[in-house]
Amino acid sequence: MNLLNKTILITGASSGIGYELARQLAAEKCKLILLARRKEILDSFTEKIKSSNTILTYQCDVRNKCEVENVFDDIRKKMDHIDIAILNSGVGLKASVENFDSKLADESFEVNVLGLIYCVEELLKDFIPRKSGIIAGVSSIADVRGFPMNGFYCASKAAASVFLESIRVELKRHNVKIITVRPGFVTTPMIAKNKFKMPFLMKADKAAGIIVRGIKKERKIIQFPIGTVIWGKLIKVLPNFIFDFIFSKQIPYEK
Ligand SMILES: NC(=O)c1ccc[n+]([C@@H]2O[C@H](COP(=O)([O-])OP(=O)(O)OC[C@H]3O[C@@H](n4cnc5c(N)ncnc54)[C@H](OP(=O)(O)O)[C@@H]3O)[C@@H](O)[C@H]2O)c1
Repeated sequence: MNLLNKTILITGASSGIGYELARQLAAEKCKLILLARRKEILDSFTEKIKSSNTILTYQCDVRNKCEVENVFDDIRKKMDHIDIAILNSGVGLKASVENFDSKLADESFEVNVLGLIYCVEELLKDFIPRKSGIIAGVSSIADVRGFPMNGFYCASKAAASVFLESIRVELKRHNVKIITVRPGFVTTPMIAKNKFKMPFLMKADKAAGIIVRGIKKERKIIQFPIGTVIWGKLIKVLPNFIFDFIFSKQIPYEK
């Protein structure tokens, strides 16, 4: 698929993978609709790239359903239609059992699952009647199992992946395509606090390039890097006693 002049919406475009996606898609001469809470970053991005294409920016907290609805209502007034939506907003909050705090679960599920679902709801209002459109939801290879200290994150990404798979099958008859994006570790502010050695760590511009190429090919699943994909497949089928043995050794002691 040629992306020239396509209208592409990206959530979480103010940082990391989303920012890189916006930069690369602007270079491909796409019309962009960028969403994040930090609108000032989106506006300075628009200034910086000095693109002749249309770029709309919106302050939007995807946890707030009303805010999401209002943003999409305004987009409908300003743009003919959306061709592709990359639902990338996400949070990676660490939580240990010693400092258990369900507020972190609220935020993880509100952004990574409900925020995604609120955007899908708005997109389908236009995509189903038009019988076209692509939604790429950014999940994670961390959807395979419950890694210690990352229970809320893994559970939310597993929920996102399963939800995307379910609607992918249903939407086939409406000619609406669903892509699940499953990155491994990517150098962004989200993982900056990780103290362990992250295998197959990839730069955000490379990750965004793989996602753009995957969207052009309309892949059902875009997953990378290959080393982490294979690692994820192996971890998924590990018997519990081996999984517990390996990962219990990686939990730092907390008082
Ligand atoms: N980095 C990795 O290793 C990795 C691996 C697998 C999957 N992922 C996934 O990739 C996606 C992008 O993550 P990243 O690594 O690029 O992280 P990042 O640099 O921290 O970017 C996260 C983006 O999400 C937005 N966001 C967070 N909360 C939001 C909210 N309530 N409403 C709207 N937007 C919100 C942030 O914008 P504002 O703060 O301005 O709102 C920011 O633009 C996430 O879904 C993440 O789970 C990342």
